[in-house]
Amino acid sequence: MLALGTLLAAGCDRQAGPRVIPADARVEEQVEKVLAGMSLEEKAGQMVQINVSALFTDGKLDESKLRTLVGQYKIGSFLNAINDQAQPHNVVADVIRKIQEVSLEELKIPCIYGLDEIHGATYIADGVLFPQEVNLAATFNREHAAHMGRAIAYETRAAMVPWVFSPVMDLGRDPRWSRMWESWGEDCFLQSEMAVTEVLAMQGADPNHIGPENVGVSIKHYMAYGAPWTGKDRTPAIVNPADLREKYFRPFKECLEAGALNMMINSASINGVPMHANRELLTGWVKEDLGWDGMMVTDWADIDNLYTREHVAVDKKDALAIGINAGIDMVMDPYDPEAAVQIAELAREGRIPMARIDDAVRRILRMKVRLGLFEHPVWDNSGYTELGGETFRAQALAAAVESEVLLKNEGGLLPLRKGTRILVTGPNANSMRTLNGGWSYTWQGDKADAFAEEYNTILEAVRNRFGDENVLFAPGVVYDDVAWEKDHAVGIERAVAAAANADVILACVGENSYCETPGNTDDLNLSANQKDLVRALAKTGKPIVLILNEGRPRIIGDIEPLAQAVVDIMLPGNHGGDALALLLSGDANFSGRLPFTYSKHINALHTYDYKVSEHMETMDGLYNYDAVMDVQWPFGHGLSYTQFAYSDLKASLTEFRAGDTLRFDVTVRNTGAASGMESVLLYSSDLVASMVPDVRRLRQFTKVNLAPGESTVVSLEVPATELAFVGPDGKWRLEAGDFRIAVGGLSIQVRCLETKVWDTPNIYR
Ligand code: BGC
Repeated sequence: MLALGTLLAAGCDRQAGPRVIPADARVEEQVEKVLAGMSLEEKAGQMVQINVSALFTDGKLDESKLRTLVGQYKIGSFLNAINDQAQPHNVVADVIRKIQEVSLEELKIPCIYGLDEIHGATYIADGVLFPQEVNLAATFNREHAAHMGRAIAYETRAAMVPWVFSPVMDLGRDPRWSRMWESWGEDCFLQSEMAVTEVLAMQGADPNHIGPENVGVSIKHYMAYGAPWTGKDRTPAIVNPADLREKYFRPFKECLEAGALNMMINSASINGVPMHANRELLTGWVKEDLGWDGMMVTDWADIDNLYTREHVAVDKKDALAIGINAGIDMVMDPYDPEAAVQIAELAREGRIPMARIDDAVRRILRMKVRLGLFEHPVWDNSGYTELGGETFRAQALAAAVESEVLLKNEGGLLPLRKGTRILVTGPNANSMRTLNGGWSYTWQGDKADAFAEEYNTILEAVRNRFGDENVLFAPGVVYDDVAWEKDHAVGIERAVAAAANADVILACVGENSYCETPGNTDDLNLSANQKDLVRALAKTGKPIVLILNEGRPRIIGDIEPLAQAVVDIMLPGNHGGDALALLLSGDANFSGRLPFTYSKHINALHTYDYKVSEHMETMDGLYNYDAVMDVQWPFGHGLSYTQFAYSDLKASLTEFRAGDTLRFDVTVRNTGAASGMESVLLYSSDLVASMVPDVRRLRQFTKVNLAPGESTVVSLEVPATELAFVGPDGKWRLEAGDFRIAVGGLSIQVRCLETKVWDTPNIYR
C-alpha cells in the first residue's frame, strides 16, 4: 500500500479548482462587519457548540444557565433533542425563541441550533419519519431522496431549527459497522447521487440564501467513517489512498459542489491520523482544493478524543490547538463551555494564529448569514401546515414500498392470495421500534413504540390487509427490554403449534434498533434463538416467508434454504408494515434492489466492486461473478412479480475521448403479467488498466414504470471522465483501451482512444 504521505504529496499541488460556493458580496460584507466588532472571547464562544441539555433543570429551560452559557461563555451554538427525545414542534420552537432572545441581547449575534434529522424529522414528534437512507438507496429512485430532503427541511424549519446533521454519506461497505443503515449503501456513485439530491432538496439551489422552507445541511462524517478495520464504530480505518480519493471522497466532494454549507468530521482515524487532526484532508482537500468557504464542525466531543482516546495530544488545550489548526471551525463540545476560554487562551499564547480564529469565525458567521438568521433569528412558524401531513406520509409510504427487496420467491409463493391463513411470528413482527431503527424519536430508537402508536407494525398491517380472522400471532422469540440487543426464546413450541392452523408462515426476524457504538456486534450471524425459531418452523413443512428487518445484512446462510421466500425490508420506517402488507398481497409490486452485497459467510464479506484479480477463475465467465464470489445475494439483486426483457443496447459512440459524454440506449420491456417498476443499472468494466481494475462499477441508473407488454427505450449518459480512476501516484487517469458496458444482462464494448492524466487533485467537469 502507498504511504499516505506519498499520495498527499501527489495531491498537494493546490491548483485549486472552481470555488464550489460562489461568494456573495452582500453576505461577505455582513460577515466582515460583524467580525470587526467582536472581542476575542466572543470569537472563541462562536466556535463552541453545547448540548442543549446544559440549559435545563428538571426538564425545564433554566434562564440562569442560558445567561451563563451565552452571556459569560458567549456560546454561539446548541444542539440535540430537548430532554433527549422528540418534542412537538412548538415546544422546540419556544426553547429556540428564548435562546435567540438571550443571544441577541448578550451577543447581538443569533445562535445556530442543529438537530440530527436522519430519516425524516427524527426529533419532531409531530413530524414524519421516512425509511432510513439504506432503504431509499434500495429504491434506486432519486425522487425519494428529494421527497425526504424536502420533508426534513420543511418540518425542521417548522420547529424553528435551521440546521440538520444530515445526510450521512459514509460508504456502507462493511456490514459489521453499526451505522451501515444510515448510509446509501456500498457504492460511491449511488451514494453521491442520492446524497446530492437530498442536499439540494434540503438547502435549495442557492447556498447563499437558504429559504424559509430549507435548512443548512451538515454532510457527515468526513470521511471513511464507515470503514473501521475492526468493524466497530469509531475505530481506525485503514484505506487504500487511491480508494480514499476515488470512492470515499466522492460523495463529499459532490455535495460540497452542490453547495453543502457544513460538514461534520469522522470521529476515528484514517491510516494512523485522526481525522480531527488531519490538516491535509480537512484544510487541504476541502478548503483549499475546492475553495470551499463553509464551516467544519467536530463530531460529539471529538476534540477530547484526540487526547483521551487517540493519544495524539497531551491535554484538552493541546487537542484544541491541533484540531483548530488542522481546520476545525466549530467544536461540538457538548458538556464543556470551558473550551471557549481555552480557545481564547490558545490565541493569546499564539498557539492558534489569530488569522485561523478569524477564518473559523468568518465561516460560522457566513453560515448564519446564509441561513438568514441575522434578519430572521426567529420566524412565524404557524404557517407550516404540511407538517406531519398527508403529502409527506404518502411519500414515506411510497418510498417504503419501493425500498423493500424481494430476494427469493420459490415457486411463486408470493403474492399471497386473499384468504390465506398466515402465522406471523418472530421478534420483529409487532414492533415499531424495529421498523424504524435508530434516530427515531430518540438516538437509539428505543421509544418508537410509544411515539409511533398510530402506525402499523407488520402484524397490524397484515391483519388489516388479510383480515383478523386469517392471521395468527405467536412471536416465539422476543427482544430483552433492557439488554435490548439480546433476545429470548419465549415459546418457539407455541409458534410451531400455531403453524398447524396456518397456510404460510411469516417469520419476521432481524435486529432490534441501535445506533453508533451501542450497535457494535461480535457476531454478524442472525441470533441463535431466531435461527432456532426458523428451523423449528421449517420442520412443520409449512412454507416460510422470511422477513428480514435489520440495519445490516445479518448472516443467514444456514437458514435461508429453509425459506421459500425472503424479503429484506431493512429499516422501512413508520409505513414499513403497511408497505410490506401491500407487497405481500400483490396490491403493490416489488421493485427494490440491494444497495449492498448480502454476504453468505462470516469470513467472506464482499463488496460488488472487488478487484478482478481476487477471482481469476472467473476470467471466462466474468458476468457470472456472483456464483464464484459465493455471496448470498449480489449488489443490485431484487425480484419482481413481473419480468423485464432487455434488448438493443447501443452506444452513441463506440470510440471516445476524455471530453466526450457517452450515451447508452437500451430497450426494456415488461414481459410479465403485472405492472412493475424496474431499476435500470449500467455498469462498466475497465478491461485492462495500469492498476488492477475493479471488476465492475455502477456508472448510471434510472427507474422506469411499465405496464404488462409495454416497452420503452432508456437512455443513460456517462461522461468519459466517469471511467477514470485514481492511480498509484494519487492522480486521476483515464486510459486508452476497451471498456465493457453492461446493462440488464446485455453488454457491449467501447474504446477510449487517449490516455489522460489530470494534474489537479480533482476532476472538474
Ligand atoms: C454522531 C453524529 C451526530 C452527533 C450529534 C454523534 O455521536 O456520531 O452523527 O450528528 O452525535 O448528535
